[in-house]
Amino acid sequence: MGKKIEDIIRQDIKKIAPYVPGKPIEELQRTYGIDIEKIVKLASNENPLGPSPKAVEAIKRCADKVSRYPEGSGYYLKNKIAEVFNQPVDNIILGSGSSEIISMGMELFLNQGDDVIFPTPSFLIYKILAYKIGAVPVEVPLQDDFSYDIGMFLEKITSKTKLIILCNPNNPTGTIIYKKQIDELMEKIPDDIVVISDEAYREYVDTDDFGTAYPYLYKKNVIITRTLSKIYGLAGLRIGFGIARKEIIEFMERIRPPFNTTTIAQEAAIAALDDQEYVKRSFENNISGKNYLYSAFNALGIKYIPTYANFILCRIPSAPAVVKKLEERGIIIRGMFGVGPEYVRITIGTERENLLLIQNLKDLVGEEK
Ligand SMILES: Cc1ncc(COP(=O)(O)O)c(C=O)c1O
Repeated sequence: MGKKIEDIIRQDIKKIAPYVPGKPIEELQRTYGIDIEKIVKLASNENPLGPSPKAVEAIKRCADKVSRYPEGSGYYLKNKIAEVFNQPVDNIILGSGSSEIISMGMELFLNQGDDVIFPTPSFLIYKILAYKIGAVPVEVPLQDDFSYDIGMFLEKITSKTKLIILCNPNNPTGTIIYKKQIDELMEKIPDDIVVISDEAYREYVDTDDFGTAYPYLYKKNVIITRTLSKIYGLAGLRIGFGIARKEIIEFMERIRPPFNTTTIAQEAAIAALDDQEYVKRSFENNISGKNYLYSAFNALGIKYIPTYANFILCRIPSAPAVVKKLEERGIIIRGMFGVGPEYVRITIGTERENLLLIQNLKDLVGEEK
């Protein structure tokens, strides 16, 4: 063999650290022989209530359709989204998860060498996709309490800036951009810069002061990305959507891979969007779980960042050892050691799951102190 593969691949790709997802339940079962039913996964910000029963019915109903390609345009799902989110149907695009919408949005606007600004710590995909495209990631640190500093975003804008990505609420911190902040950013941003507002956790936000990018959809170049993976409980089906002005959506459609969303995902998403009672139940479970975990963390002396999403960033002494010991006991949380050696992110679970987590943390945190 002549040259090594690593010498002939596009060299930018070497800058990409592999994305490490939350540990799958199946892996814990294989590693520790724990009964799959007993494993508690609080690592990937999924809906702990499981899918909506209506979505499950829809999945069963369309099982015998899968020998055919999906309805490529996603006509019925787009119309449902238009109705639920009160937007024209031409302003909606479907993706295999909202990650694919983010990816298409970045591919549409970024040339090699263009700057793309986004927060750090944040969702790792932004940096991976920037390198994939050959764009230059410009990371804006959140403040010490992990709140956004909009002034810092504005300071980073140069003639090379093409795109700004906002993660709101931000993963892994659960912090948000407030109304006043989004107004300031949008007012000052030059017209030729595009904003992708990743609002994957928007449904969990419990303040009216949330700075969604919705009011700017038709005033600025804005793409809002939303997902069915979180409160709608369909992470395994990979379905999300983007909302933007028709001109933007039309160009995104040119790079959308054909049949990127499956028949089952489309049908389940329609049923899930129709089940707003389930969304309400999921929201309420999250609020009560959050309050329970806050008080349990306070009692245990565990520091945490107040969250607007379905996960909590915490600081635990000897975090890597605690994460491993929890896994041995069948509980998966997510180490966030890129943020700092003591940081972990815990998805808010059901009442039973939260209780189990706290019972185990009580032993372990005491032990590691
Ligand atoms: C901030 C953020 N955006 C987007 C996503 C992607 O979600 P999906 O591709 O499943 O829609 C996630 C998933 O964890 C996320 O945390």
